[in-house]
Amino acid sequence: MTDHQTTHQAQEDARNETIRIWLNGQVVPKGDAKVSVYDSGFMLGDGVWEGLRLYNGTWAFIDEHLDRLFEAAKAIDLDIGMTRDEVFQAVLETQKANDMHTDAHARLMVTRGVKTRPFQHPSLSQQGPTVTIIMEHSKPKIARPIRLATVPHLRGLPMTQDPKLNSHSKLNCILACIAAEKAGADEGLMLDVNGFVNTTNACNFFIVRKGEVWTSTGDYCMNGITRQKVIDLCREDGIPVYERNYSLVDTYGADEAFLTGTFGAQTPVGEIDGRPIGNGEMGPVTTRIRELYKSLIQRNCS
Ligand SMILES: Cc1ncc(COP(=O)(O)O)c(C=O)c1O
Repeated sequence: MTDHQTTHQAQEDARNETIRIWLNGQVVPKGDAKVSVYDSGFMLGDGVWEGLRLYNGTWAFIDEHLDRLFEAAKAIDLDIGMTRDEVFQAVLETQKANDMHTDAHARLMVTRGVKTRPFQHPSLSQQGPTVTIIMEHSKPKIARPIRLATVPHLRGLPMTQDPKLNSHSKLNCILACIAAEKAGADEGLMLDVNGFVNTTNACNFFIVRKGEVWTSTGDYCMNGITRQKVIDLCREDGIPVYERNYSLVDTYGADEAFLTGTFGAQTPVGEIDGRPIGNGEMGPVTTRIRELYKSLIQRNCS
């Protein structure tokens, strides 16, 4: 495909070749940041993570990110072995080691750690968690509105693998992304178990119809921090916003659609399953919400 792009595309930055990475209490050069082949994360996808963004010297919505990380760790019975403040200090230490001030993205990962034998049982993870922070210089670079394709991979029920968990095992989402790519799109649009439009494989999903902003009920998608900020901003600004069930018919007929996530903030969607959304360009409500989010970031991160 000639003009393929992803939702997490960033400008090339040569400085990222020499970044330093936080690994279990030490800040080490990228080339030395290695984990064991016995690591629970590598072997089984047994871990949880957060994506964080640095704007103007401040890690945006850090409390919400730490809340979600510790909640997820508790849910999978994983002891991070650090307090919230120690985790935050590790983020600051990594930032300092990399001399980063703005436009940086961090992936903070915690796995159940190195196993004694190569099998699934969590009791085999006896050395404590593996904690690592990859921090990169990062400016999102999207050349055109995103194309989505609806995929057969569903957002599951909470009693299988709760889609709210930001777990290392993302295979369902990866398969959704592969299916979308093979259909000529950039990212997969995923339905819930009842067939309602839910989310994409890596971002939350919104549509705009006749001035109203709609997103899923939230039951089957990541409890995205950017998603919640957008809902709150709409409410404050008097833009009608609804968390509700809606179908592909509503979606194809929308005036606008956009994605949300910490990396890209709000990313316009131009096409879904070969149908243009609106005129295929970023619409006025998405533009307004992007401005509101930008000023929220300016208020929170200075
Ligand atoms: C599947 C999925 N949906 C949505 C999001 C966006 O969440 P947030 O806005 O908290 O970055 C993420 C980010 O980790 C994700 O993995």
